[in-house]
Amino acid sequence: MLRPASAALLLTLSLIGCADDRRAERLKAAGPNPTLEKLMTVADAKAGARLFGTCAACHTSSAGGPDTGGPNLHGIYGQPIGQHSARFGYTAALRAKGGVWDDKALDAWIANPQRFVPGTKMQFSGIPDPLARADLIAYLRSLSD
Ligand code: HEC
Repeated sequence: MLRPASAALLLTLSLIGCADDRRAERLKAAGPNPTLEKLMTVADAKAGARLFGTCAACHTSSAGGPDTGGPNLHGIYGQPIGQHSARFGYTAALRAKGGVWDDKALDAWIANPQRFVPGTKMQFSGIPDPLARADLIAYLRSLSD
């Protein structure tokens, strides 16, 4: 069960390693110990689109795309948690979470799905890098514009 998640993590690390994405410049602009709000002001949806390669093992992001290992994520930003896809079999844990997928919820989820929603079946260990998470959130948001 852990294998897809480990593979995904390795892919994330290699993606972060390859594409510089003006990280140093953007982090500098965000200031020391940036809040999520600050990081979102320097987040780059294009960098996020590249990082989404990690998520694509289980998710499609195109409009009307199929549910695969996880639900299709097109337009997920701003939607109620655990209800976006009518066809996908969400866990009771995710359906019961409540709230919507805003910056804060997505950040906590992508950092550590199991901590945000204990009992979720999203087998993904999480992305520790706050700027990478902000980039992914910017990308997901761009799919709702
Ligand atoms: C190993 C497969 C897998 C990977 C990799 C994965 N996910 Fe998921 N994801 C799932 C599953 C399964 C669910 C449904 C979880 C549940 O029902 O508890 C889910 C649910 C979600 C949801 C909630 C959708 C909704 O309709 O409420 C979001 C948002 C999400 N994933 C984002 C991501 C992002 C962003 C990444 C990459 C950083 C990612 N996922 C990587 C399998 C995966």
